[in-house]
Amino acid sequence: MIKKTVLSGIRSTGNLHLGNYYGALRNFVKMQTEYNCYFFVADYHSLTTHPDPAHIHENAKNVVIEYLAAGLDPEQCTLYVQSEVPQVTELYLLLNMHAYMGELAKTPAFKEKARKQPENVNAGLLTYPVLQAADILIHNADFVPVGKDQEQHIELTRKFGRRFNNFYGVEYFSEPQAFNFGTELIKIPGLDGTGKMGKSEGNCIYLYEDAKSIEKKVKRALTDAGPTEANQAKPECIENLFTILRIVSSAEVVKHFEDKWNACEIRYGDLKKQLAEDIIAAVDPIQKRIVEIKNDPQYIRKVIKQGTEKAQENACKTLREVREIMGFKAF
Ligand code: TRP
Repeated sequence: MIKKTVLSGIRSTGNLHLGNYYGALRNFVKMQTEYNCYFFVADYHSLTTHPDPAHIHENAKNVVIEYLAAGLDPEQCTLYVQSEVPQVTELYLLLNMHAYMGELAKTPAFKEKARKQPENVNAGLLTYPVLQAADILIHNADFVPVGKDQEQHIELTRKFGRRFNNFYGVEYFSEPQAFNFGTELIKIPGLDGTGKMGKSEGNCIYLYEDAKSIEKKVKRALTDAGPTEANQAKPECIENLFTILRIVSSAEVVKHFEDKWNACEIRYGDLKKQLAEDIIAAVDPIQKRIVEIKNDPQYIRKVIKQGTEKAQENACKTLREVREIMGFKAF
């Protein structure tokens, strides 16, 4: 049976946090045997908000290292860096000719970024979805695992693919679907009471963060004055701590604190101490792998070379076919 293709990209703007790991990465590790997987670092996309030459390379390398440390196997999946596969940017240019100013300007993601960085509303921000569509279409991905906020980009990708097919009268691009982890979809909340853990929200615990710092962050997490009635519902900030506890702690530990909550005997200090301890234990093996891989630049180089070659093989084929469909011929 032919395996379906799954593709996922992540903007490299710094280190990965628990939300990246439990929300996506941990599932990727399980998916790599079942699907034909492409995982890549969207370093060009990071330029739309973080054009800092001192960090571009380091950030991309870090993601690769942390992906490997979390268990991605470069023999099973194709792990690569976007900027190493120039065919993507050529497809981006070609797709740009069929993407309209109006539809790009009205995407919610663009409007939000434009509001957040009014001093830098660059054309890359506007055409961000076209580059993302090129990422996806170049491998003709069937599934793209994304959070809710990215679904609009998958929708646009389908639109660009359909438009290409219609314009050139071909059945070339197929329609990628957002991949839903279903029951396994875990949203990691931030420690600041509401919303999810996210880099731009500034409420992250990183995969590679030292124990003291994790303790400090957990200690500072928002709590309330405590329950006043038995078995009462938890406010969001407390539910959030329990959500993380359920992920990193044993069933006994979770039950212990549930019981304490229900009996109005919970002490948030104890809860946080346990939570910090269990987060530290959960990330410990990954951190050890990160250190090992960081100390082995030859291995990193080999992984990148292998991923680039595998990604380029497919990308070259797509680009050759697309150019031909569009009328480019050899002189
Ligand atoms: N826009 C995605 C994000 O911010 C990153 C990304 C770039 C991506 N290209 C992609 C995700 C292709 C999936 C497929 O998270």
